[in-house]
Amino acid sequence: MMWLWLLVLLGLYFLYRWYRDRQILQNLPDKYVLITGCDSGFGNLLARQLDRKGMRVLAACLTQRGAEQLKEATSQRLQTLILDVTDSQNVAAAADWVKQQVGDRGLWGLVNNAGIAIPMAPYEWLTKADYQKIMDVNLMGPVNVTLSLLPLLRRTKGRIVNVASSLGRLSCMAGAYCMSKYGVEAFSDGLRRDPGSLGVKVSILEPGQFRTCITAFQPIEENLHVLWSHLPAEIKDTYGQNFFDAYCKYMQDMMSGANPNLSLVTDCMEHALTAVHPRTRYSPGWDAKLFYIPVSYLPTVLADYLLTPTLPKLTRV
Ligand SMILES: *[C@@H]1O[C@H](CO)[C@@H](O)[C@H](O)[C@H]1NC(C)=O
Ligand SMILES: *[C@@H]1O[C@H](CO)[C@@H](O)[C@H](O)[C@H]1NC(C)=O
Repeated sequence: MMWLWLLVLLGLYFLYRWYRDRQILQNLPDKYVLITGCDSGFGNLLARQLDRKGMRVLAACLTQRGAEQLKEATSQRLQTLILDVTDSQNVAAAADWVKQQVGDRGLWGLVNNAGIAIPMAPYEWLTKADYQKIMDVNLMGPVNVTLSLLPLLRRTKGRIVNVASSLGRLSCMAGAYCMSKYGVEAFSDGLRRDPGSLGVKVSILEPGQFRTCITAFQPIEENLHVLWSHLPAEIKDTYGQNFFDAYCKYMQDMMSGANPNLSLVTDCMEHALTAVHPRTRYSPGWDAKLFYIPVSYLPTVLADYLLTPTLPKLTRV
């Protein structure tokens, strides 16, 4: 009998959540959204998707070519700009441009999507500069862009959508990528609780593995070969050729499971920008929902067991 009541309660809860999730804002065509990293992947798809919904998309691309291609594929409403989030003068100029575009209406949405993952390799194969490069793009870039645009976002009591990763909850061996995504999580949670952003809603995306340039194996492999060939002989001897080959194979297997359906992710981004009640966290992808996020709640000793790859032992110490 008690089970029945529990089931009814659970059913009601899901019904309530479903109803709450479905409430979408009315005046989307008045709303400006700036998205970074629109050359490819999630940013590119989201720009097209929001453009089709009639929103006013300001699509920031790293390359001229990316911007031109996106412009050809979208309506007159969509505007592109060139933005390298690590170049602070570029960020300041972009913020001024956005201010001119939106005028008194303010900016409704900011999607901090631009990110990189290479070099992805065992920690010892990398230099501090390798770590710095990823931190600059994935973490300090969004911080700088967000601070520059916060006054415009506060005016609309709008939305900030930060693309972290399931690997922002779990750190596996992969260079600075996880470190930068942990940082994005901390920045987002802190910002949501910060007096300066009150009224602005901050959502965090924690996608599993999706088929974007982040998970494309070929550039990762090319980079691994370059790193390996430049390692000091001593480190190379310590790991051994067997290890290197096995590591490449391991990365290839990891990336081969990436989900090709990017709209699972962009649908969450769209929800965060257009729903009356956006969620704080979205974890699109079955690998995120069934593996990464649950494992992130396990005791460390179990998580270590599940996340430590099986690779050949170092050939000498
Ligand atoms: C962005 O970064 C640059 C360089 O660190 C800095 O000069 C600028 O003030 C930053 N913008 C904001 C809004 O903090
Ligand atoms: C991709 O995901 C969307 C949901 O966001 C779904 O409607 C669509 O059918 C999926 N496409 C494929 C090919 O599975």
